Amino acid sequence: MTIGETGIDATVAHPARRYNYWLGGKDNFAADRASGDEIEKKFPGMRAGVRANRDVLGRMVQFLATDAGIRQFLDIGTGLPTADNTHEVAQRITPDSRVVYVDNDPMVMVHAQALLTSAPGGRTTYIEADLRDPATILASPELRETLDLGEPVALMLVAILHFIPGEGAAQPLVRKLLDALPSGSYLAATHFTTDYLPAEERERYAGMLAAGRSDVWPRDRNEFEALFEGLELAAPGVALATEWRPSGAASTDGVDASRISMLAAVGRKP
Ligand SMILES: C[S@@+](CC[C@H](N)C(=O)[O-])C[C@H]1O[C@@H](n2cnc3c(N)ncnc32)[C@H](O)[C@@H]1O
Repeated sequence: MTIGETGIDATVAHPARRYNYWLGGKDNFAADRASGDEIEKKFPGMRAGVRANRDVLGRMVQFLATDAGIRQFLDIGTGLPTADNTHEVAQRITPDSRVVYVDNDPMVMVHAQALLTSAPGGRTTYIEADLRDPATILASPELRETLDLGEPVALMLVAILHFIPGEGAAQPLVRKLLDALPSGSYLAATHFTTDYLPAEERERYAGMLAAGRSDVWPRDRNEFEALFEGLELAAPGVALATEWRPSGAASTDGVDASRISMLAAVGRKP
């Protein structure tokens, strides 16, 4: 079933809506909930990993806005709006922060335009585009009108790079985007990994992937770290999402931290 002219198919699980379901949101359909529950049943910890990812996104923006003095954000893979979206965290610290949100999902963009509205003094813009086409993102008039590419920008690639399948497929995209940003810019990224799963689950996951039953391509710690080549990693370097600058007691929903399965890091372009 396709709803109206929006191109949204409610019968097929979609990453952004499944993610919204795991975060306790309401912008999801039965197919998203069924897929989310099936994954959670096979891989307990998945939901906690998603929450850990969302929490670390907030801590990364906080670090970038305070310690790094960043005022401009290019957030690719926006996701459906939830609590503490990038511009909200940044503008709480620096009200004139500017954020460009990019996503390739029309439903995400409709929600983002309605809900991710800037505080006075700052600015938010939205581009419906694909991470696999960095040239279009960089050339977009919305981006050029909102961000000054002569000044540092934080490139946020949070829980999106694992939707770029294939060995070595993500690195050139990250490189192209970073090449367009000046010295003092940052890359903040998180990524799904199966490094910490028990061997049996890791094999089960590899089987699902090979059979085309998962759209999330895991990378190991070395592959993730390679995305930051040439950048200065901020402490603590590459870490599990729950262990990247935790604020107080890291919440893992009672799941062992080693099963969170999301790597996080922030690096500065020298
Ligand atoms: C799991 S959500 C992450 C949301 C947010 N960054 C966070 O971490 O909370 C991933 C988002 O990336 C978007 N996405 C996936 N592949 C994409 C691509 N190739 N280009 C642009 N957006 C993409 C999805 O539509 C979804 O909204």
